[in-house]
Amino acid sequence: MRNDLPFAVWSHERQQRIEGVLAAVLPPLDVPAARLAAAMHHAVLGGGKRLRPLLAYAASELTGADPARVDSRAAAVELIHAYSLVHDDLPCMDDDTLRRGKPTCHVAFGEATALLAGDALQALAFSVLATDTAAAGTEACRILADAAGCAGMAGGQQLDLDATGRTLDLPSLELLHRMKTGALIGAAIRLGALCGRPLAAAEASALDAYARAAGLAFQVVDDVLDAEGSAASLGKTAGKDAASSKATFVTLTGLAQAKRRALALREEARAALAPLGGASARLGELADWIVLRTK
Ligand code: IPE
Ligand code: IPE
Ligand code: MG
Ligand code: MG
Ligand code: MG
Repeated sequence: MRNDLPFAVWSHERQQRIEGVLAAVLPPLDVPAARLAAAMHHAVLGGGKRLRPLLAYAASELTGADPARVDSRAAAVELIHAYSLVHDDLPCMDDDTLRRGKPTCHVAFGEATALLAGDALQALAFSVLATDTAAAGTEACRILADAAGCAGMAGGQQLDLDATGRTLDLPSLELLHRMKTGALIGAAIRLGALCGRPLAAAEASALDAYARAAGLAFQVVDDVLDAEGSAASLGKTAGKDAASSKATFVTLTGLAQAKRRALALREEARAALAPLGGASARLGELADWIVLRTK
């Protein structure tokens, strides 16, 4: 395990690795539904931080797993994430025109094809997981399905719609964020950790505590960046949450408090790793990246 690489080198290597895995599992562009395949490629390839795959690879290091055992799980989570972005950007949802520095899927391919691209990406994610017989396919499918469904991302998106134009209390906003974003981040971490030796109960609960803190931190920072960042740096429209009366940490608690919360969650995530020792170093670095990132 080459766990001594500087973070920037390790993350770049893994980002390139997952790019190759994703390219390999997407349908080729010459299938009969060529327009749909092209929309899927547009949504998945050539952009994005690949945070969820990085978390899966980092969590797998806890269990001594070879990265090759992680590839299909990391790809499956990223496919669900990419689908969630396509649908999140649709006119009936956030109505966004810029994603990952490119026109959103529906701007490039039309609304109906973007809808289908999301559908097909979700199906592909489970196909990728189920095909990986070396990787406890059924359990992995259940973890991902739970994270994507009504109690996870899709449910969180519903709460996000329900909350638009309303003022939530803090526990309700936290629940919304934990579902729409934290659940998939938690799944990436759990799927990565399933790849090698089984974790002891205390290790598993330490990892869960890390995932809860890191997942919430990620969306708090997303809210901060929406308020403070620019389209040029983010690759997506800035200032959208306030303009759309979204319930976010910034709109509810203010920018300064949202930033303090993100820093506190970074500490919480790092503290949760203490029982896991040196093999959790990458996860610690990822907690830093989640909170200190500028895009
Ligand atoms: C954006 O996710 C949507 C949220 C869940 C907040 P990312 O910031 O991970 O988007 P990409 O994958 O880097 O484009
Ligand atoms: C989206 O949250 C979370 C998803 C489940 C896709 P946002 O709507 O804040 O994500 P961005 O800011 O558009 O990336
Ligand atoms: Mg949204
Ligand atoms: Mg959005
Ligand atoms: Mg946002």
